Amino acid sequence: MNGQAGQIAVLDFEPANEEFCEQVIAGLSQHPRTLPCKFFYDETGSALFSKICELPEYYITRTEMRILRESGSEIANALGRGIELIGLGTGAGTKTRILLDNLEAPVAYVPVDISREQLTQSTIVFRKKFPALEVLPVCADYLQPFDLPPRSGVANRTVVYFPGSTIGNLEPEDATQFLKKIAVIAGRGGALLMGVDLKKSKSILERAYNDSAGMTAQFNLNLLARANRELGSDFDLRGWRHRAIYNEKAGRIEMHLISLRPQTVNIADAAFSFAPGEHIITEFSYKYSPSEMIALAGAVGLRFEKIWTDEQKLFGLFLFVL
Ligand code: AVJ
Repeated sequence: MNGQAGQIAVLDFEPANEEFCEQVIAGLSQHPRTLPCKFFYDETGSALFSKICELPEYYITRTEMRILRESGSEIANALGRGIELIGLGTGAGTKTRILLDNLEAPVAYVPVDISREQLTQSTIVFRKKFPALEVLPVCADYLQPFDLPPRSGVANRTVVYFPGSTIGNLEPEDATQFLKKIAVIAGRGGALLMGVDLKKSKSILERAYNDSAGMTAQFNLNLLARANRELGSDFDLRGWRHRAIYNEKAGRIEMHLISLRPQTVNIADAAFSFAPGEHIITEFSYKYSPSEMIALAGAVGLRFEKIWTDEQKLFGLFLFVL
């Protein structure tokens, strides 16, 4: 923990505990049952995700960082000088930092993230590293309405940075709606720089989400542990198993928690009974081919300008303009 964390002003739209409770109960009342993946990222979950990013099988983060490093100056040229950067789900800020290192005289950085801990820590680091940059953190579930803080400088351009293939967590219809909101934020002359995991073989994908160290399993199970901690539910973690499968037809990884035996779980005033083998869907992670993503964004007026990718075409960093 950093001693300065308490002094960082964060514009606050953080989901309340009641919202977590309501959404858990609503999700478990559906069939198939679901739990919202945005709740993965409490302090424990964020730390586990950081570990996932270092696993040999989980190529996503590493590849996106490599693209940012290798094409940094080209990307910076395409974005232009004196821009303001609105980061959506930028987490610990490791990738944004590579981007900012390459940008010419950026005026403001507005990280929007659901993890307050990561926001304050990264704000401290970024203010120190980039003293001329105005860093204005916003704690929010960016899928819900939120305001941007007033910036004191005037930027040449607003660039939305949406890394990590988080777009893949949305159903394609929701992704379209969200891209529409991004287009409003970026405005005329603005841009979207978005990291997207590309379609590839089932075996590479399933290995990335079923790692041999069992880190993704821990990450998935932490959702139940978090519910126990914050909502007082009584999930028995030994009664659940992690599984990730690539649904080739839908083009998405599906993360499941499977009930190992018949069991009943109590949450607030609700009780849920699970049959052995019954699963809860905790996350979808859609994969796109470049042409699919270009079509999706094009439908809301985001014009494709460029894609940067790695040698194996595992991951794409897309630039769209308005
Ligand atoms: C943060 C959404 C990109 O879908 O790959 C990692 C989250 N889930 N392992 C992904 C995740 C399981 C991740 N994103």
